[in-house]
Amino acid sequence: MKILDLFCGCGGLSLGFQKAGYEITGAYDAWQPAIDTYNANMSHEASLFDLSDVDGFLQAIKDQHFDMIIGGPPCQDFSSAGHRKERDRANLTRSYAEIISSTKPLYFVMENVARTRNSKAYHVARQMFVDAGYGLTEMVLDSSFCGVPQIRKRFFCIGALDEKDNFMKDILLDAMGDKRMTVRDYFGKKLGVDHYYRHPRNYNRRGVFSVDEPSMTIRGVNRPVPGGYKGHHGDTAPIDENLRPLTTQERSQIQTFPKNFKWLGSKTDAEQMIGNAVPVNLGKFVASCITEFENMRVQKDKVA
Ligand SMILES: C[S@@+](CC[C@H](N)C(=O)[O-])C[C@H]1O[C@@H](n2cnc3c(N)ncnc32)[C@H](O)[C@@H]1O
Repeated sequence: MKILDLFCGCGGLSLGFQKAGYEITGAYDAWQPAIDTYNANMSHEASLFDLSDVDGFLQAIKDQHFDMIIGGPPCQDFSSAGHRKERDRANLTRSYAEIISSTKPLYFVMENVARTRNSKAYHVARQMFVDAGYGLTEMVLDSSFCGVPQIRKRFFCIGALDEKDNFMKDILLDAMGDKRMTVRDYFGKKLGVDHYYRHPRNYNRRGVFSVDEPSMTIRGVNRPVPGGYKGHHGDTAPIDENLRPLTTQERSQIQTFPKNFKWLGSKTDAEQMIGNAVPVNLGKFVASCITEFENMRVQKDKVA
C-alpha cells in the first residue's frame, strides 16, 4: 500500500510504517529542519508544504496514487505541555480532515495527544470522517505496551472506508504486550547508568528515574540537573555527581529511532523533533495491526 504522511516531522511515524512493510510515497511538513532530517534518513523525499493551504495541497497531489494517509497535526494546542485553549493551530486538524474527505483513501491514521479526543477541533474533524463514509477505531495507546520503553499515551483515530466503527479495536488490544517495557528491557546494559535525571515540570514532581521502569514521556526539551533541584521523596536515587540527564542520542533511542538516525539542525531543533515524534515502534505497531485487519478483509472478500 502506498502512503502519504502529512505533518511528517522528522519521520517517526513514516519510519514505523516503513518498518512494517509500507511504502511512503509522499511526506509533507512546514518546518525546514524536520524536512532536512527526514531527507537525510529516508530513501524517498519529504517536501516543504504549508498544509493550511488545503486547496493548494489537493492540487499538488492530484496525480498521485495512494491508499492511505497518516499524520499527526501539531498538538501544542491540545497538549498538557502547552496552553489548553484551542487556537489557530487546531485548524490544522480540520485541514487534515478536509484532505481526507476530499481524497478518500482506503485508510487513514490520525495521531495526537490523548486530550485531543475531547477537543472541539476533533469533534468537527470526526464528523467530517463519518460523513465521508469512514468507520472509525478510536483509541488511546500507551507506547510502553507497544514495544517502546516509554509511557507515552497517544490518541489514534484509524479510519477505513465503509467499515463499522471499532473495526480494529480487538486487533489492537490483542497485539499489546501484557507488561510495560522498561528502559533496561530495551537497552540492556548499553546505557551504562541505573538512574537518570529528567527535569520535572515543577518541583512537586520527581526528577530521578530508574532504568527498571519505562521512561516518562520524552518531551521537546532536555535540561541538566539544576542547582535548585533538592531531590524528591519519589526519586529512585540520591542526587550526586554521577547523576545525569539522558543525552539527545539516548532520548532518540527511547523514541525507538535507530542508533544511526541522523539529526540535522541545531541541538534545540533535534530535541524538539524527538519530542514531537511518534515513537517508531508505536508507528510500526499500528501499521502491523492495519496489515492484519487488511489481510482479514481481503480474505473475507475472497470467501464472499
Ligand atoms: C507532532 S509533529 C509530527 C511528528 C511526526 N508525525 C513524527 O512522527 O515525527 C507535528 C508537525 O507538524 C508540522 N507543522 C506545523 N504546522 C504546519 C503546517 N502549517 N503545515 C505543515 N506542517 C506543519 C510541524 O513542523 C511538526 O513537524
